[in-house]
Amino acid sequence: MTRLLQGRIVVATHNAGKLREMRELLAPYGIEAVSAGELGLAEPDETATDFIGNALIKAEAAARAANLPAFADDSGLCVDGLNGDPGIYSARWAKEAGDYDRVMAKIDGLLIERGCVAPEQRRAHFVSALAVAWPDGHRETFEGKVFGIIVAPPRGTAGFGYDPCFLPDGHTRTFGEMTSDEKHGIPADGSQALSHRARAFQMLAAACLRKA
Ligand code: IMP
Repeated sequence: MTRLLQGRIVVATHNAGKLREMRELLAPYGIEAVSAGELGLAEPDETATDFIGNALIKAEAAARAANLPAFADDSGLCVDGLNGDPGIYSARWAKEAGDYDRVMAKIDGLLIERGCVAPEQRRAHFVSALAVAWPDGHRETFEGKVFGIIVAPPRGTAGFGYDPCFLPDGHTRTFGEMTSDEKHGIPADGSQALSHRARAFQMLAAACLRKA
């Protein structure tokens, strides 16, 4: 049985940007979010082999340590022509490359090396996994995806991370050329949001949240 998320929760992140975004998403539901960073909780190693597994590791560790329901996410960019890489290693690839301009150039170079030049050979998708864990061991998970292609050179300066090289299907502008509302906004009419994270949140809201 799905369980309602109410009251005070821990957002299992030490990233200020993610915390702000999650607080904004949760505010209309009357949920007070404190972060794992603010509570001084340790960051667990992300040792799972998929997004849901890593989101669960973070949510369960925070729920146990704080004795409160905890909410965590894990996300990344999967490129078909690279067998799903960088996938769960998206943050690591960017760190190893030095910055996002370099990691986006690396992805383009690897695709060209493999002969993936035509748009249909450059398919990719973003994934966002959200996990909620309660101190008694109950858990809920949701996964949102958005499909598109890798473009080169990257376009736009909005957003973050891999946004400038991702052109979502049905659009003429990359995530890097969209406003945050276009990319992450939750449509008031109940239609599907665009970004992987907003889509996962819509699923979580439908199952576990009620407007305050
Ligand atoms: P994590 O979820 O904090 O482990 O990091 C996910 C990685 O995927 C980071 O390197 C992000 O830059 C990248 N990523 C996840 N979602 C997005 C997005 O919406 N736009 C661009 N990059 C993203």
